[in-house]
Amino acid sequence: MKNILSLPVAMAAVCLAFFFFVIGQFFVPQARSAAQPDMKKFSKVADMVRDKCMACHSRGYDLPFYASIPGIKQIIETDYRDGLRAMDLSEEFGEQVINAAVNEATLAKMEWVTLNETMPPAKFTAIHWSARVSAKERENILDWVKAARAEYHRRSLSVRPNEPVQPLPDALPVSAARADLGKKLFNDKRLSSDDTLSCAGCHDSSKAGTDNRRFAEGVRGQVGDINAPTVYNAVFNFSQFWNGRAADLAEQAGGPPFNPIEMASVDWRQIIGKLQKDEELTRAFIKEYADGWTGDNIMNAIAEYEKTLVTPNSRFDKWLKGDNKAISEEELAGYQRFVAYRCSSCHVGVSLGGKTYEYMDLKKDYFADRGGPLGSDAGRMDVTKKEEDLHKFKVPNLRNIELTWPYLHDGTVQTLNEAVHIMGIYLSGMDITPGDNDRIVAFLRTLTGEFQGKRLEGQAVPR
Ligand code: HEC
Ligand code: HEC
Ligand code: HEC
Repeated sequence: MKNILSLPVAMAAVCLAFFFFVIGQFFVPQARSAAQPDMKKFSKVADMVRDKCMACHSRGYDLPFYASIPGIKQIIETDYRDGLRAMDLSEEFGEQVINAAVNEATLAKMEWVTLNETMPPAKFTAIHWSARVSAKERENILDWVKAARAEYHRRSLSVRPNEPVQPLPDALPVSAARADLGKKLFNDKRLSSDDTLSCAGCHDSSKAGTDNRRFAEGVRGQVGDINAPTVYNAVFNFSQFWNGRAADLAEQAGGPPFNPIEMASVDWRQIIGKLQKDEELTRAFIKEYADGWTGDNIMNAIAEYEKTLVTPNSRFDKWLKGDNKAISEEELAGYQRFVAYRCSSCHVGVSLGGKTYEYMDLKKDYFADRGGPLGSDAGRMDVTKKEEDLHKFKVPNLRNIELTWPYLHDGTVQTLNEAVHIMGIYLSGMDITPGDNDRIVAFLRTLTGEFQGKRLEGQAVPR
């Protein structure tokens, strides 16, 4: 009985589907598919993501009707909150988006959950069978990730182009004359109120661009409230500062000179008043900047210099470029663990970070466990003023990490083993065995690169 009834229904459905398919061909704007080579790959994935993932990974999404059923309601609300904290796809996969340049971190995250088959959560698919991701859909995701990732690294010499981590370029295009001026200004103490402190005072080239202190020390011995990140490879960050309050290096360079607990100058006029008296420097500056000393020009020159602070040729980069002997078996195993414990979901790309803001208390309350307030903990919320951004920090880059201790925004962590342990608990949400912890640390030590042909200067963190 059932079969007899369902046959005509099925046939009607097939006819209807065919009808809409044919009609659809006339209405789909053809220009769209010609825009980008991987547009087709993206739209296949985007349709699936909108259908099966957006409920828990975007804001302002209407929850399904069964979300109001008691019992299910609690599960869904928790999943919705935790899912959104782990990854927000509102912008990259919103209905209007045709082919977003999807963030490299998003690509790495999608790849990880696809390979490990963890999404959607099992307890969700148990009640919502149709939300399962099929083998074909998984294949589509991986195919798209590979193509989209390749777009970011088209000029790379990597022989392993589908790794989430990719080699640093040897150098970026810069104006050598401006970079040279920027270098002078970066090292110029006249940028500070009492002529005692230059940018290099806290971003020391003999300390891998940091100060190796918990909190930075400004003029008159004033101690800050947050750890100083390295300036090496900062150019690859999608924004500057732990909370991203500067859009780029030039904007960033306008911060410290006027920060009362850093360089404490009053305004550009005060600084320029001093620089103007330096005839030789002023002559060189006017040659490059026709309108002479201005705040914008100074920031531009410093940023140009910082673009030269790239540290290629680490042993790991050599391995990525095909030198299989560049790293040991243990170090390679460490990299594989780094990927398996989903470290590379956030520490991604050429600088292993700097692409997203993430919650320091993603999987567990780091701040409660650490005990009490300490320094500047609000993170991204200080910029957006949104409660939902509390404790979100820009993912730090891990290049030269053995030289840039102590670790974390609060500078509380003294060793790499401890940093990896903490990451496992609070960011990855996975127990890292002591053996794996050592392997990951061994891998992290392969990330020390060269500056202008020589190993980057600095003191390696003790074991
Ligand atoms: C019912 C809600 C729900 C749905 C539907 C859902 N997720 Fe998630 N997602 C979560 C939760 C909860 C987490 C955080 C816990 C975790 O990582 O396992 C998460 C985490 C993630 C992460 C971050 C993991 C990482 O390694 O950084 C990714 C990526 C992800 N989901 C992808 C997807 C994809 C792709 C889909 C659709 C195929 C999907 N999710 C559907 C709830 C959901
Ligand atoms: C008193 C020490 C001190 C001085 C002087 C100083 N910085 Fe910093 N720098 C810091 C600290 C601390 C941070 C992190 C602040 C934050 O994120 O809120 C930082 C952040 C940065 C960053 C962002 C890096 C990243 O990964 O987000 C750059 C770039 C930078 N400084 C460049 C400069 C330049 C250029 C100057 C001179 C104009 C300078 N700094 C002067 C301590 C200092
Ligand atoms: C969900 C994103 C995410 C994951 C997963 C993650 N990290 Fe991090 N990592 C961060 C953020 C954000 C910080 C900075 C947090 C802070 O200082 O408050 C950080 C900081 C670090 C630091 C200190 C860097 C510095 O200069 O202070 C190291 C080392 C590190 N992570 C390694 C790892 C390792 C190893 C793993 C895997 C076990 C991992 N991370 C997993 C986001 C992540």
